[in-house]
Formats: sequence, C-alpha cells, structure tokens
Amino acid sequence: MKKVVVVGSLNMDLVMEVNRIPKIGETIKGDEMSYLIGGKGSNQAVAACRLGNEVSMIGCVGKDTFGDKILKHLKEEGVNVNGIKSDEATFTGIATIFKTKNDNSIVVIPGANDFCDKNLIDENIETIKSADILVTQLEIPMETVEYALKVAKENGVKTILNPAPAREISKEILKNADFITPNETEFEIISNKTFKDGNELEEAMIAWQNENPSTRLVVTRGKDGSSYVEENKVETMKTIKVDVVDTTGAGDTFNGALAHGVSHNLLMNEAVTFAGTAASLSVTKFGAQTGMPKFEEVNKILNVK
Ligand code: RIB
Repeated sequence: MKKVVVVGSLNMDLVMEVNRIPKIGETIKGDEMSYLIGGKGSNQAVAACRLGNEVSMIGCVGKDTFGDKILKHLKEEGVNVNGIKSDEATFTGIATIFKTKNDNSIVVIPGANDFCDKNLIDENIETIKSADILVTQLEIPMETVEYALKVAKENGVKTILNPAPAREISKEILKNADFITPNETEFEIISNKTFKDGNELEEAMIAWQNENPSTRLVVTRGKDGSSYVEENKVETMKTIKVDVVDTTGAGDTFNGALAHGVSHNLLMNEAVTFAGTAASLSVTKFGAQTGMPKFEEVNKILNVK
C-alpha cells in the first residue's frame, strides 16, 4: 500500500438541483437540496483511499455538526483523520453547488479551511515525511500550500498541486510541485492566456512546459480527456464514454487517482489514463464522492497492475 497525504480543504456541500443557473437579480425555483460531504481535499483523500492507498488528511473543520459529520464519514471511508483539527473559533467550510443536468457552479465559504496553517503542517510533519506522495489544492491559504510542498520536497516525497480554485502560482510553489493539474479554465489563469481553440491551448501547454521543466503539466479537458507534453508534443489520453449524472468532484477523483498512479510508478501515459478513467467513472453518480471508483472498477476497464 502506498502512503498518500492530502493537505487541503473539507466542506459540507449544499447541493441545489436546478434547471439552470440563475441570472444576476433573478430568483428561480430549484428541484432538490442535498447535504453531501465534499471539499477538494476531502474528495481527493477519499478518491485515493477507495483505490486502495493508505491515506492521511491534514486540514481543518469547525467544532460543529458539519465538522463532526465530515470526520465520521472520512473515518468510515478509511482515511486517517488524526491530522484534521476541529477549531472552536470558526465554522466548517461550506460549498453551495448549483447543479444543472450537465454541469455545476460552486460558491465556497472557506470557514475553517482558512485556519489550515503552517503550524498544522509542523504538527503533522512526520505524516508528510513518511508519505510516498503529497497532494494539495488551493482552497486553503497559499502560504500553507507553499510550506507543505516545500516540506514534502525536502523529504523526498513526490508532490501534486491541483491549482483549484485557480490563482496565480508563485515560482516558489512551482519549484516544489512535481505535477500540476489544472483544467482548461484554470490553465488559462495560470498561463495568463486565453485560448480560442484546442490548438491554442496545446501551443500554450508546450510553451508553459518549456518554461517550467521541473513541474509536469497535466491539463484535464473533461470529455476530451487529459493532456500532457512529451518531447515538445501534446499527448492526449482519451476518456471512456459514460452517462454523466454529476460532474462535481471529477477533478478531485482525477487527482486522487493520479496520486495512486504516480506513487505506484506507472508511466506517464498509464498514470494519466488511470486517473482519467477513474474520473469518468466518478461522474456516473450524484455527489462529489458517491461515484468515486474502487481500484477493481478501474482495473476492470484498464487491466493495470
Ligand atoms: O471539486 C468539487 C468540490 O469543490 C466540492 O466538493 C466543493 O466542496 C468544492 O470545494
């Protein structure tokens, strides 16, 4: 079993099922409302755990009902929650998700996620040192992300940075990120460019990869698969065709599964295909974590070791 440590966010997702996203100034009637456990960090931890890895999570919830529910759920999934602080001074992060038939929009109120600080990393430094791979995202303070990546890198632990929600990334952060995994929109923000079409995206990917040779860029492209740069050429791993129920958490599944592939030393094409297949399977059920596959389900499609 490989050891995966996730440093990141934990949220309660308030999912509103709607026909369409309301326009500014408009009130619309929704169909259903569900409380589901989410947060990019917690989702990535569950994704990696379902695939058979030993997963520890470092993050922060409030000392409240949502925080208790998240901790209970992660324990039931098999995630080690010793690195999750319950803070009395704040409330658990909330994500309001407007879910339409084909897509979603999300508003996150970070709450306790903003209390995931460098001290918490220091308190859990042994967990990071003993891991095979560290995964982090940008729903916690940037300085914590930077510090966690630095500690991991200094201790020979591989690192994946999922730059979501997208923000400008410093050179210091990139220096310690072995992989960076934006979706197309996030890559526009990171590269400070806009793309009219796939060709422009691919040109920008090659340019970015040449400028940042020590960080492997993987761009997730929804139903078009996932792309990376190999010898100045973009390689795209296609996805499998599925009936989409809910795309929430697809990117998180991709990252949890990429952590599995990288820590098991799969080749780049194998690791990206594995992650893309897991992400495709995840969108076939409602909720960020419900459809995250077990290793056997991905293996049945791919036949990987
Ligand atoms: O990536 C999906 C996640 O983003 C949701 O679970 C929500 O909590 C937001 O953090």
